[in-house]
Amino acid sequence: MKMVMKLHIKNFGCQMNKLDSSLVCSALVERGFELVETSEDADVILMNTCSVRQHAEERVLSHLGRLKHEKKSRPELVVGVIGCMAQRMGAELAEHEAVDLVAGPGQIAQIPDLIEEVLASKGTVVAVSEDIRVKGSDVERVGLDEFEMAYDSDANHIPGQAFVRVMRGCNNFCTYCIVPYVRGPEVSRKPADIIKQIRKLADGGVKQITLLGQTIDAYEYAEGGKIYRLGDLLEETSEIEGVEWIRFITSHPGKFDAGILEAMASLKKVTPYLHIPAQSGSDRILKAMNRRYTAEHYLSLIEKARQMVPGISIVSDFIVGFPGETEEDFEATVELVRKARFKNSFVFKYSPRVGTHCEKKLADDVSDEVKKERNIELLAVQNAISEEDNLKYLGATVKVLVEGLSKKPHLNKAENDDNPQLVGRTATDHIVVFNGPERLRASFADVKVIKTSALTLFGEID
Ligand code: SAH
Ligand code: SF4
Ligand code: F3S
Repeated sequence: MKMVMKLHIKNFGCQMNKLDSSLVCSALVERGFELVETSEDADVILMNTCSVRQHAEERVLSHLGRLKHEKKSRPELVVGVIGCMAQRMGAELAEHEAVDLVAGPGQIAQIPDLIEEVLASKGTVVAVSEDIRVKGSDVERVGLDEFEMAYDSDANHIPGQAFVRVMRGCNNFCTYCIVPYVRGPEVSRKPADIIKQIRKLADGGVKQITLLGQTIDAYEYAEGGKIYRLGDLLEETSEIEGVEWIRFITSHPGKFDAGILEAMASLKKVTPYLHIPAQSGSDRILKAMNRRYTAEHYLSLIEKARQMVPGISIVSDFIVGFPGETEEDFEATVELVRKARFKNSFVFKYSPRVGTHCEKKLADDVSDEVKKERNIELLAVQNAISEEDNLKYLGATVKVLVEGLSKKPHLNKAENDDNPQLVGRTATDHIVVFNGPERLRASFADVKVIKTSALTLFGEID
């Protein structure tokens, strides 16, 4: 084995996956690996994959195609596929010529050992959960918790911010969704562990904590005769010195309750931001999706949120072209978007996922062309709303947590090296681009908004 092995890790998935990647990275760095920016420089390449849509998997397969060629000239290169697609495909992926390691989300703590195993044996190693819907043993759970606690310091590459998992898995079985089959059953983590972890992160200088769960509003942990819910976690996190902003993603409209809104209304550190996907505005489709709420319930919920938490920004996800979605169903979704006035919406074209109820029982009968049209139309409706609503920030001074250098120079090109273009986010998660000294990274700044667009606010330091 070389003295210093170089590691490159690529992410294809959601925040859960990104968090897994950073934990694995920190663990490998502790084992002596050096992190490198490009795959050409790496001795070990890990791809942390997503299965939520076909497109996400196709991107991974095309990367693997390229790596197969690269391995012809560099046979010692180690390629690992980890994450949700690894869990879904298991041994099938191991047959790919480029692949040396396959490990699921439940096996992240073992990855450092598994890589050593590959390096020692030169054979392909597969580690995924046998029956993903069977809850892992206590030993496995404690192993994951300990891994999480030990390697969380580097849990995010945006300085000053960290993501903390409060629950794993999902029990909702929305009929289109692969997540319950790749992330396993819902398990809430022990509140004391979560709080201890956040304290440690705050001591290390973290200012913003984002609590993570697929259905975070379903968080529930019984201990000492008390049932801890999300509101309790928000309250305890609020008491931690150093933590200034708290976010939580993602909420499920069927689980959301007034207790969470009360916590948001009364706790100053909890940001007025809610990611609560509606998925559709048609009750017929919502039923077929097994979402367990109606459009009316959804709208009343966000109305209540706006009453209790003034200025709250609400974000949603939508699937267009779900099996059987008629023009009328789609119009109901457009109507919901018009009424709800989201800060922004993520719109996805329905993609059948192997093993889900939809894939087994419902024909993917909306053509790709219609899916595309609906996607464009819904985004256009949303964009017009975002553009209009963002105008209210014009001339206002907003507080932002600065993330660092802006990657896309939009308006103000860097005037000089001392005053480059920076990007930050408001408490409501609005992106703000402005010029300022780079030392502002990871700190708060007051920025006066001088121009707005649908997705970005542009400003200058006040
Ligand atoms: N747990 C989160 C979402 C996780 S997946 C929640 O329930 O809100 C992120 C988004 O991907 C979903 O909100 C949904 O809009 C979309 N999605 C999930 N499965 C999909 C599929 N089969 N086809 C298209 N989009 C899908
Ligand atoms: Fe998927 Fe539904 Fe669970 Fe979200 S709540 S992860 S959409 S099954
Ligand atoms: Fe996330 Fe994709 Fe897995 S959305 S949980 S990485 S299937």
